[in-house]
Amino acid sequence: MSTATRVTSLSPSLIRAMSVGAPPEAIDLGLGVPGWALPEPARRALEECAAREEPLGYGPIGGIPELVSAIGDYHLLGDVTSVHPVHQCHVPGDVADQVMVTAGSQAALTALFLAHVSPGQRVLVPDPGFPAYSTLARLAGGVPVPYALGPRGDLDTQTFLALLEGDVGLAVINHPGNPTGGGASLEALAAVASACRAAGAVLVSDEVYRDVHLGPRPASLRDVSTSGVVVSSVSKGWAAPGLRVGWAVGDPALLEPARLVHNAMTTSAARPSQLAATALLRNSAEVLRQTRRELIQRWSIAQTGPVAVRPVAAPAGGFYAWIPVPEWAVGDTLGFCRRVRDEGHVIVVPGTAFGAAGEGFVRVSCGGDPRLLAQGLQRMAPFWEVP
Ligand SMILES: Cc1ncc(COP(=O)(O)O)c(C=O)c1O
Repeated sequence: MSTATRVTSLSPSLIRAMSVGAPPEAIDLGLGVPGWALPEPARRALEECAAREEPLGYGPIGGIPELVSAIGDYHLLGDVTSVHPVHQCHVPGDVADQVMVTAGSQAALTALFLAHVSPGQRVLVPDPGFPAYSTLARLAGGVPVPYALGPRGDLDTQTFLALLEGDVGLAVINHPGNPTGGGASLEALAAVASACRAAGAVLVSDEVYRDVHLGPRPASLRDVSTSGVVVSSVSKGWAAPGLRVGWAVGDPALLEPARLVHNAMTTSAARPSQLAATALLRNSAEVLRQTRRELIQRWSIAQTGPVAVRPVAAPAGGFYAWIPVPEWAVGDTLGFCRRVRDEGHVIVVPGTAFGAAGEGFVRVSCGGDPRLLAQGLQRMAPFWEVP
């Protein structure tokens, strides 16, 4: 397939498409964004940046050193609290080589897929899973190969390993997962990492929801392996999706070609955003505590809301409730979600937006305004009760 054909075969994500044509009074429980204010350290950093009477340069292609250092501390040392004065920041070469700052984790994923997937190669993607994985696999000329998840959306090693055959260029895992909230055990991560290494497949571990959790902090691929690449961003845990700052951390040999792609795509992430992201990471203790408070509040609304749309289990992380549709609607989840939107005035995302295995489920985002979440769940419930 030519590049032009690959591009024209792309279609808008169903997550966004569900809000097109929605009644104006519809409550949006579709988009997965934190609905609380940008945390104070980021606002302060943006103000300070705007107040400086000096040129606003591009900054280094690899990201500003203070952010590279903060990401290195977070992922490589697990230390998010030590503060480096900006002007004294020195990033050791080995840390800089293992960190790539990007315009959101979306750009990290794009750069990694374009750098490591050759036309015709297989790309393992979770089903249900974040739709960008299949899109990016196709954009790179690869063939997305969906793998099933465990009963609660957890990483199921057996099904994953069974598909790791033939010419697999890249495999992506996402834990806690979008849309199911499923997690991955340390054992599963270790098994998947060593199998990908043996198979010569690049393992990408998408951990954007790692710091959005109700129970214990979910594991990272970095806890068990130095192979593969972890991607994350300030969009979810640090409540700053609009900054568009993310990163990839891992094997320098895997990052090197991806850096060239990212540079060709965007030059670098926006400099004021990188300063704000640095402030967020350096104030992680306080910022992530707030995230937990906001999440607990929203999740208790979902768990005490109408029984018909109550989530069956708390997720390992993330802000999504993954709810089965009523039996009579199975087979036409999209049609059901359109009815909920057009007649009930609530936007939810049909599970099929995340792959064939999402049929029979809807994703409800609990990240937004708590009052609207409560109201949205009340509006939705009658659709689960009557055909
Ligand atoms: C699983 C997952 N990965 C990556 C992204 C991209 O996020 P961002 O580019 O804002 O970091 C999202 C966004 O919703 C997501 O759900």
